[in-house]
Amino acid sequence: MARGSAAARVATASALLALSLAACGQDSGQSSEERDENSEGGTVGISMPTKSSERWIADGDNMEQLFQEAGYETDLQYGEDRVENQIAQIENMIAQGEDLLVIAAINGSSLGNVLQQAADAGIPVISYDRLLLNTENVDCYATFDNEKVGELQGQYIVDSLGLAEGGNESFNIELFAGDPDDNNTRYFYQGAMNVLQPYFDSGRLVVRSGQTELNDITTVHWNGAEAQDRMDDLLTAHYRNERVDAVLSPYDGISIGVLSALKSIGYGSDDLPYPVVTGQDAELASVKSIIAGEQTQTVFKDTRDLAAQAVSMGDALLHGQECEANDTETYDNGVKVVPSYLLEPVSIDASNWRLLVDEGYYTEEQLS
Ligand code: GAL
Repeated sequence: MARGSAAARVATASALLALSLAACGQDSGQSSEERDENSEGGTVGISMPTKSSERWIADGDNMEQLFQEAGYETDLQYGEDRVENQIAQIENMIAQGEDLLVIAAINGSSLGNVLQQAADAGIPVISYDRLLLNTENVDCYATFDNEKVGELQGQYIVDSLGLAEGGNESFNIELFAGDPDDNNTRYFYQGAMNVLQPYFDSGRLVVRSGQTELNDITTVHWNGAEAQDRMDDLLTAHYRNERVDAVLSPYDGISIGVLSALKSIGYGSDDLPYPVVTGQDAELASVKSIIAGEQTQTVFKDTRDLAAQAVSMGDALLHGQECEANDTETYDNGVKVVPSYLLEPVSIDASNWRLLVDEGYYTEEQLS
């Protein structure tokens, strides 16, 4: 991630904070000096799911930096995709008397007990990117418009295959979804289905494996190797005499696994071009793959903006204010609708990847 943009992010966080105060119509009645003094000594526990994907490393780093710039100490921990690690790390944050928790859950439903402990200790909780489920004890949610992410992926397939332009030709597609314990998975799937379903109904899109239900197509821990194995199996069982024209992939790590399986049986040649393969997160390997003409699309979610949003929300909570929300209807976690701030995802392909350089997300050198 390009570090040169840090100052801009801090400015964004401050601007967001100012906006959030203005939006709530709340004035803390304190000078900024007093606010800074009040902030001193506060510690924010940041609980991230894994370092196996570069985005979470960036999320953690960005939040650490922005919280520290805002006058807080930080305690950043990674659960490495093991629920018991994440629970132990959060219990430890509570025991240390930390003042705020920002959590991207490994399993959205598994933290009920530890979140109750946080509530008993009076510690506010922000759900980061992934919704915390079946608990009263979550104050607000910073994320992207997750259904829109799926719609962008589905629409990219529709546009690339020219499906909306009419005709009778049918195309083969296989579907992949994310981790079954991540609430985002069903939003990405639903968003894609909103766009693709009419073409399944008309027969213009055919899933030769027949695996179309969410339960059939999930990928534990979003693991690329698992996706590669499943794609190997699908190719062997259903595509000996057929070509795959498109693969719905919800995340870049899965896309790279799918592409490896395709490559291993000869896709990527003039005779057998790669299918359309979607993705998400604009991870470095995938953006390079897009530039090289392998992966076709990804969805860029600027983690710097998400971090800034979480910092703004956290700062508001720690000053006894409500967090800024732009959606108070969509994210029902089973117990309550969690006030959410949804950022806008952006579709990226070979025609517009330079946006990532223009925005300072990557440097030109990183992508060459
Ligand atoms: C999801 C997240 C995606 C992707 C995925 C795998 O929760 O919304 O952007 O990062 O996890 O890490």
